[in-house]
Amino acid sequence: MFASMKRVGIIASGGDCPGLNRVIDAVVRGLDSEYEIFGFIKGYEGLLDNEYIVLDRKYTGERRWQTGVYLKSVNKGRFPGKTKEGVAPVNMDVINKAKKNYDALGLEGLIVIGGDGTLTIAKTLSEYGFKFVAIPKSIDNDLKGTDFTFGFFSAVEAGKQAITNLHATAYTHDRVIVVELMGREAGWITLYSGLSSNADVILIPEIPFSFSNVVNHLKDRKARGKEYALVAISEGCSPTDYHQVEASTGSEAPQGRLGGIGQSLAKYINDNSDLDARDLSLSYLQRSGIASSYDSFLAMEFGAYGAKLFKEGKFGEMVAMKNNELSSISIKDAVSELKLVDPKSQIMELAYEDGFYFGE
Ligand code: F6P
Repeated sequence: MFASMKRVGIIASGGDCPGLNRVIDAVVRGLDSEYEIFGFIKGYEGLLDNEYIVLDRKYTGERRWQTGVYLKSVNKGRFPGKTKEGVAPVNMDVINKAKKNYDALGLEGLIVIGGDGTLTIAKTLSEYGFKFVAIPKSIDNDLKGTDFTFGFFSAVEAGKQAITNLHATAYTHDRVIVVELMGREAGWITLYSGLSSNADVILIPEIPFSFSNVVNHLKDRKARGKEYALVAISEGCSPTDYHQVEASTGSEAPQGRLGGIGQSLAKYINDNSDLDARDLSLSYLQRSGIASSYDSFLAMEFGAYGAKLFKEGKFGEMVAMKNNELSSISIKDAVSELKLVDPKSQIMELAYEDGFYFGE
């Protein structure tokens, strides 16, 4: 490396995501002729502990096809992320220590790759002298300002494939199979997976529904000769006659960990009808696999565009995809509210017209 080279850090944080190594490679290719690049281990935590790998295109190129980010990632940590109560209070010791490392490395800024929680931290750190360009990463697709985040379509592929395959068992054995998908507040994964795999019932947090309506619907189906059904449900659903379900393990996550609503619904169906219901949760299978082809392209495009924004000094901006065009919006705007499914949107109208049932 030349002593005169500028320096940039990469922070990848939050849940692992298909395509993440590809984004890092695209960022490195866009910057390595001018910058020395520091990939921090476990995202912000690495900045605090001064743990990093110096990245070049040989290193990242050899690993870009791998699943599981080699920089490692955490969903919790010592920075002021989102909690159940809102954004955690700022701990100045943590911020000062991270800033000391940032200054000592002589970083011009950071490229942060993450979802709502990670970018909320970036927004806060920007107030303390850190400079960021952001790349939207989330299987939940809930970041405002971009039509899609990378990772989303890979999660949808996992959901679509599972539900499509499960039609066989549901049909053959006359069973109701409830499939729980990820999505804390936004039902995008469940909606897209359910529509593309022809789920008979699709339950998402944005559309109020009750367990009893779902059971009545399934009983009606049975009366019409269809004893089997596929039900897709988001982990974050709060049915009007039940409650949101928290997972029994891993509760140290700052926002709490959801999981189990699918099992609760299957039990409710069994207890309140003569239908035979089973459940399964796709959980991490949705974000541990290979990137879909669309996500691979998006990862390349987002990484390259993020590098371009950084070189242009567009700090405080997040890469966005709008109507198939790359652009950017401010990180502040992107985290100002979550992008949820609009029950009155075109896709929902089409789904209703097609006869999909949403539990209402
Ligand atoms: O934010 C993405 C997400 O996949 C959520 O849908 C889910 O609630 C969460 O991550 C679970 O991740 P972890 O168990 O790693 O905290």
